[in-house]
Amino acid sequence: MPSDSLTIIDNRTGKQYEVPIQDGAVRAVDLRQIKTRDDDAGLMSYDPGYINTAPCKSAISYIDGERGILRYRGYPIEQLAEKSGFLETAYLLLHGALPSAAELDDWVSAITHHTFIHENIKKFIDGFHHDAHPMGVFVSTVAALSTFYPEAKNIQDEQSRATQIVRLIAKTPTLAAFAHRHSVGLPYAYPDNDLSYSGNFLNMMFRTTEVKHVPDATLQRALDVLFILHADHEQNCSTSAMRNVGSSHADPYSSTAAAAAALYGPLHGGANEEVLRMLRSIGAKKNIPAFIERVKRGELRLMGFGHRIYKSYDPRAKIIKRVADEVFDVTGKNPLIDLAVELERIALEDEYFVSRKLYPNVDFYSGIIYEAMKIPVDMFPVLFAIGRTPGWLAQWQEMLLDKEQRIARPRQIYTGPEVRDYVPIEQRG
Ligand code: CMC
Repeated sequence: MPSDSLTIIDNRTGKQYEVPIQDGAVRAVDLRQIKTRDDDAGLMSYDPGYINTAPCKSAISYIDGERGILRYRGYPIEQLAEKSGFLETAYLLLHGALPSAAELDDWVSAITHHTFIHENIKKFIDGFHHDAHPMGVFVSTVAALSTFYPEAKNIQDEQSRATQIVRLIAKTPTLAAFAHRHSVGLPYAYPDNDLSYSGNFLNMMFRTTEVKHVPDATLQRALDVLFILHADHEQNCSTSAMRNVGSSHADPYSSTAAAAAALYGPLHGGANEEVLRMLRSIGAKKNIPAFIERVKRGELRLMGFGHRIYKSYDPRAKIIKRVADEVFDVTGKNPLIDLAVELERIALEDEYFVSRKLYPNVDFYSGIIYEAMKIPVDMFPVLFAIGRTPGWLAQWQEMLLDKEQRIARPRQIYTGPEVRDYVPIEQRG
């Protein structure tokens, strides 16, 4: 009679253990009973990079990496990208259900009316060097928000949590755009409450002398779709950072800053920036084969390719390719797109990429669209962070409300020296 359990025989002792299986997993803590001696701390699982460890149960996003499926709260990403808006998707991630018309109105109004930042934050941004990377400015200013809202420490207070969530989603575009304006030496452009979330972001990025800056509707929609595609992605590196830092009961601004810092790296949200630099360095189609050979020799990575979970085409990359055409109708074609398409074609026919199941990920085409929209390359990871903020916050809240969660504190396998006596400096060799 099959049972939902795992029988383990410890060949060191000959003892047999029965460990329950639930939701396709065994509890790592159940391995602790497997010991060779009474004072043994018990068997651990060793999993660098958390390749096969589920630190939580989550009802927010679902990925089937083999079949290239991504859903938020059960809704396919393709449907959300076609029919939803970013703020509606953010509501869905945070509340678990699509809003009614009245709920959406209230939600959009709340976000729209929290887009301003304290004037002192401008002074803080002024202190950065002119060529400071905007992601560094973004991480620091998000963290600094915690000093303006000390009540955010009340993480168990539902109302306070809701307020900080609205503030964070509302203010991240403002901080991002201000970071950009500082880097190009332009005066800060204030939020315009008449505009959509994405429209307002473009306004704060690009307004100059005009009294009212109304960005092109296609570009607003394209940016909204890009934000939707980035909004959540289960337990990735930055979301894990959000949950880890949040598990110590730090306030949500500090946790979001930590998540953004994790996102900054080139293997994660910094990859979109690296893709653009890579395409520029390849320069022409004729140089692609030589570039691919270098990748295969392990000299560098094909940025925007590969994913820990997707072992087929990233569904977000497919949608982005479509959005690119709509954007190019407005902005004119970014010549890098032809290079990227050819690079993808050659890579997907190559045994190296085929055997490792390396396909384009969300970052492969996103930067080409951002560049066509005149967004500077070093802003790309910042845009990823704006899109991911609702997902981070939904995961943070889920973690806080999950009775099983505790402070994140993994074990280790100690490989250092045995105990030894301190040697006075004059006796050291
Ligand atoms: N170019 C060349 N080889 C690669 C690449 C790549 N982009 N990605 C993985 N590989 C190879 C890797 O060398 C290894 O080969 P071997 O088995 O011979 O040693 C094999 O594929 C498995 O790679 P891995 O590094 O063990 O895989 P991982 O799951 O630890 O890493 C990844 C996932 C996304 C960090 C990696 O694929 C990568 O570095 N990609 C480039 C950076 C990138 O585009 N990041 C954006 C990810 S999607 C957006 C996000 O959510 O952050």
